[in-house]
Amino acid sequence: MKLVSLILAAGKGTRMKSDLPKVVHKVNGIPMVKKIMNILEELNVEKNILILGHKKEVVLKSIGEEKIYVVQNEQLGTGHAVMMAKDMLKDYDGDVMVVCGDTPLLKVETLKKLYAKHIATKATTTILTSIYEDPFGYGRIVKKNGLVKSIVEQKEADFEIQSIKEVNAGVYVFNNKKLFEALSKMDNNNAQKEYYLTDVIKIQVEEQELVESFILEDNEEILGVNSKIQLAQAEKVLRVRKNITLMEEGVILIDPQAAYIEESVKIGKDTIIHPGVVLQGKTVIGENNEIIGNTRIIDSLIGENVRIESSVIEESTIENKVTIGPFAHIRPKTHLKEEVHIGNFVETKKAILEKGVKVGHLTYLGDAEIGEYTNIGAGTITCNYDGVNKHKTIIGKNVFVGSDTELVAPINVGDLAVIGAGSVITKDVPARALAVARGKQFIKKEWTK
Ligand code: UD1
Ligand code: CA
Repeated sequence: MKLVSLILAAGKGTRMKSDLPKVVHKVNGIPMVKKIMNILEELNVEKNILILGHKKEVVLKSIGEEKIYVVQNEQLGTGHAVMMAKDMLKDYDGDVMVVCGDTPLLKVETLKKLYAKHIATKATTTILTSIYEDPFGYGRIVKKNGLVKSIVEQKEADFEIQSIKEVNAGVYVFNNKKLFEALSKMDNNNAQKEYYLTDVIKIQVEEQELVESFILEDNEEILGVNSKIQLAQAEKVLRVRKNITLMEEGVILIDPQAAYIEESVKIGKDTIIHPGVVLQGKTVIGENNEIIGNTRIIDSLIGENVRIESSVIEESTIENKVTIGPFAHIRPKTHLKEEVHIGNFVETKKAILEKGVKVGHLTYLGDAEIGEYTNIGAGTITCNYDGVNKHKTIIGKNVFVGSDTELVAPINVGDLAVIGAGSVITKDVPARALAVARGKQFIKKEWTK
């Protein structure tokens, strides 16, 4: 296809009442502008051009990759925004699809159908429209005998036009050359003193050009996000879509309304997600797991047959048959190998726990390596920080660390060693040794009178 796309993303988004540019606000984990870019990528256009302006560095940073863009220094309206791409497109003889950066619910199939209609009818311009019972805020599609005549913005609409329910989705396919011809004739004689892209329609109709509309039945898809209320609406739609996809793929959601799973997350079949679970970022979860309670997992890999209850897991790897929680905090660079058990009030950070390690209660393991089948008693703490530097604790296989042990790093504990409860370990413990480091018990009889 001979098609390029333009995403309008230069506006401030005044109605959002935010310091962030509107299109940077996230919908189910993805900045709106990035979401729309992903959709257009699926459409396979020749080139995708962004129009950036207000806080463009912030917008670029949220996209996080190299992108073709042009700058609209002053935001003088959507028509003016498109004008900014004039030089870049001056020799292009195909069509241009213009999309607003604030309509993240569009589906690629819809854009394909819109383009197909444009090609089939040989129209100069084809507008995506839909019907709203309450069309407030959108541009209205004015038709006569079924033919598009113009688009009238909310602020320009008289009483009669306000009653029109067919609205402009803000997505259009234009013949490139004719688009810029029409734009050169637009003015800003309107309520907002802006150059409206929508005025192109009236100009072209006056010149006997064919303008078509493609009416979308599912009006939810064209929701424009102009306020925090609409942001929440969009977020909800995307969440529902994601959850439906997951269930179709075999994931069990106990209450799909209460599972907060970002678009980027992958989950295997028969994993059960209970209400209140939040799964974010690049998290990949295998099959047959159970995730319960207020658990939040960010950028982590989870194997199979894992059970996690009411815990936070960040940037970590959890292998098969691990159990975690309730109330554990697995911090970045933790690696829990098969069958590890992490109980309540346990915190780990930069810790590798080999197969079968048990850490049942009230423990902190930081900068640590723990060998196979070692048991860490309740209340154990790796004292990894001396106020200046972090040091490592290395514990061997089949070690028994008694309750309330403090391991003052750097420290090494050999295989099969035993540490007595309440010890403050400051020297290495050889393999198979017993280490006890605590005050001796003192008894004074008949102490209480
Ligand atoms: C626009 C349409 C309206 C349509 C609605 C659909 C116009 C004049 N109106 O209205 O008919 O029903 O979208 O959602 O086009 N932008 C720029 N530069 C500017 C102004 C805006 O890049 O100078 C960008 C914004 O960042 C935004 C997009 O264009 O992503 C749309 O702007 P917005 O102000 O939200 O337009 P609406 O009033 O919603
Ligand atoms: Ca809008």
